[in-house]
Amino acid sequence: MSEAVLVADELVAGHNGIPAVQGVDLAVAAGEVLTLLGPNGAGKTTTLLALAGLLPLMGGRAAILGAPVDHRRPYRTARRGMRLVPDDRGLFAPLTVQEHLRLAAPTSDPAREKAVLARFPALEGLRTRKAGLLSGGEQQMLAIAAALVARPKVLMVDEMSLGLAPMVVQEMLPAIREMARAEGIAVLLVEQHVELALAVSDRALVLNQGRVVLSGAAEHLLTDREKLTAAYFDSPEPH
Ligand SMILES: Nc1ncnc2c1ncn2[C@@H]1O[C@H](COP(=O)(O)OP(=O)(O)O)[C@@H](O)[C@H]1O
Ligand SMILES: [Mg+2]
Repeated sequence: MSEAVLVADELVAGHNGIPAVQGVDLAVAAGEVLTLLGPNGAGKTTTLLALAGLLPLMGGRAAILGAPVDHRRPYRTARRGMRLVPDDRGLFAPLTVQEHLRLAAPTSDPAREKAVLARFPALEGLRTRKAGLLSGGEQQMLAIAAALVARPKVLMVDEMSLGLAPMVVQEMLPAIREMARAEGIAVLLVEQHVELALAVSDRALVLNQGRVVLSGAAEHLLTDREKLTAAYFDSPEPH
């Protein structure tokens, strides 16, 4: 495997001094899609926030392109090419589609905007529409498109399908997969539509109560549904 772009090593992170994830190891290579699965409250969002430098690490290490993630300077992590699409999408209701795309990159890059919009044709005709007036699916497309305009090295998307019809998810996941492959972006997805996510992923991890309880190639997890279901519902062994 080529060298990982995003790495977590024995990662511990949480809230108010209480760990929510413990001992998480992961590595995502350029062009690879890794999906983080697991029930509500398993620690998926906490993991993404810690990797983005938006939550302090309570233990272990996280690195992007070999540089440690420093929560005191999350902008450095962003500058190295990390983009997180949070589960609330992080859009500004009064700003238009075009304005979001303009703001997403440090310098104006109309050719890049055009190339990204070509992946999300539904947004093409909506350039002058305010984000607050878009449908949920269009908002999600915009959030992802804006992240991609910045030519990220790492793209993390939290609960892309929250509140969306499966049809929309079915359209967007392959677009992300294609971009990852074409541009060598390391992608970390958090997704509830397990089958749709595994279909576009190389590998997946299942988190349960803050620990990785199962990991493997996406195709193996897809064919071993019993193991996958057990990982979701069984409590991890106490350490
Ligand atoms: N802002 C917060 N303050 C305190 N506890 C939190 C906060 N966010 C999440 N938690 C707790 O951390 C654990 C993991 O949550 P989270 O990472 O959001 O899980 P997931 O994204 O897998 O649903 C849960 O027990 C949750 O209650
Ligand atoms: Mg979450």
